[in-house]
Amino acid sequence: EDSTKRMINKIKYNTRLNRLLSQINELLSWRPLIAGGLNRMKREWVIPHINFAENDRGPYPKYMVEIKSSKARKVAITYKITGPGADEPPEGIFTIDERSGAMYVTQALDREKKARYKVSHKHSSHNAEQPMELIINVIDQNDNSPEFNTSVLTGRVNEPVLKVTAEDKDDPTTKNAIIRYRIKSQTPTMPKEEMFAINAVSGVVRLKEGGLDRETHPEYKLIIQAADMEGEGRTATCTAVIIITDSNDNAPKFTESSVSVYENAIGVEVARLKVTDMDEAGSPNSNTKYSIIKGNEGGAFNITVGPNKMEGIITTAKELDFEGLSVYKLLVVVTNEAPFSLPVPTATATVTVNVIDRNEAPVFSPAEVQVTLSEDMKTDTSVVELKAKDPDTARKQQVRYKLLNDTARWLSNNSSTGLVQIARSMDRESRYVIDNKYTVLILAYDDDIIPATGTGTLVVSLLDVNDHFPVIKQRKAILCNTDPLPALLDIVDLDGPGHAGPFTVELIAGHKTNWTVKINHTSKVLCSRK
Ligand SMILES: *[C@@H]1O[C@H](CO)[C@@H](O)[C@H](O)[C@H]1NC(C)=O
Ligand SMILES: *[C@@H]1O[C@H](CO)[C@@H](O)[C@H](O)[C@H]1NC(C)=O
Ligand SMILES: *[C@@H]1O[C@H](CO)[C@@H](O)[C@H](O)[C@H]1NC(C)=O
Ligand SMILES: *[C@@H]1O[C@H](CO)[C@@H](O)[C@H](O)[C@H]1NC(C)=O
Ligand SMILES: *[C@@H]1O[C@H](CO)[C@@H](O)[C@H](O)[C@H]1NC(C)=O
Ligand SMILES: *[C@@H]1O[C@H](CO)[C@@H](O)[C@H](O)[C@H]1NC(C)=O
Ligand SMILES: *[C@@H]1O[C@H](CO)[C@@H](O)[C@H](O)[C@H]1NC(C)=O
Repeated sequence: EDSTKRMINKIKYNTRLNRLLSQINELLSWRPLIAGGLNRMKREWVIPHINFAENDRGPYPKYMVEIKSSKARKVAITYKITGPGADEPPEGIFTIDERSGAMYVTQALDREKKARYKVSHKHSSHNAEQPMELIINVIDQNDNSPEFNTSVLTGRVNEPVLKVTAEDKDDPTTKNAIIRYRIKSQTPTMPKEEMFAINAVSGVVRLKEGGLDRETHPEYKLIIQAADMEGEGRTATCTAVIIITDSNDNAPKFTESSVSVYENAIGVEVARLKVTDMDEAGSPNSNTKYSIIKGNEGGAFNITVGPNKMEGIITTAKELDFEGLSVYKLLVVVTNEAPFSLPVPTATATVTVNVIDRNEAPVFSPAEVQVTLSEDMKTDTSVVELKAKDPDTARKQQVRYKLLNDTARWLSNNSSTGLVQIARSMDRESRYVIDNKYTVLILAYDDDIIPATGTGTLVVSLLDVNDHFPVIKQRKAILCNTDPLPALLDIVDLDGPGHAGPFTVELIAGHKTNWTVKINHTSKVLCSRK
């Protein structure tokens, strides 16, 4: 009885189970035999994605999934798959057993070639069921190293130095493609081992330490490593070359600083101040500029930059005067065309300019000595005492005088005193006199070994005196007997106005009986027969 009861219960249970199963089968037209089962989405049954790791070692074909139609029990069904990976390129990656519906992978998959397949699944019973889509995700494995897009990068220091970029073909959503950067080595390791730092995530290389010096280390080579798996995985390296661009961190330096120059010369070169600058030659960082900041009394000097930009040329802007100031201490500062990037001590040079005395000529002051004299002055009369000053105060010199072109020999000179006297009687009417002026060049010279000579002019203005008779120029006059016209005679007087015309004419004694003369003009005489 008990066993009968148990049998009935079992049948009941089995019937219920069978009913349940057939109900489920009614609901399910497809039954993929994979973990996770089916998820209901709206009213359709959706097969969850199938995940299959790339690079699976096989053996192939490898079973992947089995899909069965619920009708399979009732009718014979032929299963087929279609789409890329099945009957479309890349063909034959997935196959299906026509009878059982078991799906296989025929070869190792490569996510980096194709990360996702969409295969349509259909079967050949009556068309009761629609083909359905099966998504196969290829699961990434870390089978790709990061790659730099260039092997050598060049940067120049002046902030963010450079940025390296590596790419990893692996799945960007997994660690397989998450790259971290680091600097593996730095050459040279001077002045510090870690002059640069890299942002592990962005790959931006920055200067970490101060002390870059183009003059000693113009270039750095960094080996930069990119590693996936957040820095723990596969690696790649590239070389970054960092060129240290010049910045104006060196002040130019003078190499020379004491000179002598003759006085009395304008625009002459006094000194060329050569400078050196460690910065890049020919650049605004080494090209120099100069100024005299002290000691340039009265703007006596001018400083300009030489054509090679590496020397300052001091010239005299004015005539130097040994007797005024014989030593200048010029404080010259040199800077560069570009402003300094660091607070560097600027170079100054004290240029001592010794003014060399020159034998200077005595100077007549004023240069033109004017004297007015009556032309009939007696000999030995003093005309003038010439005075020239010798600027050479540092020299004991005697000034001597000389008349240079006293062509008429009217004057005498005392060479030591400069006294000019009348040597011979002068004549305002002489051919040496122009516009009543007798002009003589005068010299004042010192007694140096090579005498220096200053010149001046002595202008003697001669006042007229009536020292000439009026004369009838014509010594003979011819008159015609038959048709007598008066003879026209000229009166000449060398003296100037006041001492010449108007003239009076008269005939001497008995000649008055037969002849007449009269002035018909200031200096014309009409002479005629009565
Ligand atoms: C490398 O990648 C970076 C960032 O995408 C880009 O700016 C650069 O031009 C690339 N270089 C080359 C040589 O392709
Ligand atoms: C100095 O020389 C420069 C260039 O020749 C010129 O422009 C400037 O006028 C000079 N200055 C003086 C004071 O002579
Ligand atoms: C002396 O020379 C000066 C300059 O040449 C001239 O003006 C002057 O007339 C000359 N004097 C005489 C007397 O020839
Ligand atoms: C002026 O003085 C000098 C030096 O004593 C002399 O040689 C010269 O003959 C003099 N000239 C005249 C015109 O007297
Ligand atoms: C020049 O003058 C001085 C002083 O008066 C005198 O001693 C000398 O003899 C004069 N020289 C001549 C050449 O006249
Ligand atoms: C003046 O002329 C007359 C006539 O020709 C002559 O006879 C006379 O001698 C003359 N007188 C004198 C002073 O020459
Ligand atoms: C001077 O005489 C000349 C010649 O006879 C004549 O032509 C002229 O008019 C006269 N002049 C005067 C101012 O009388």
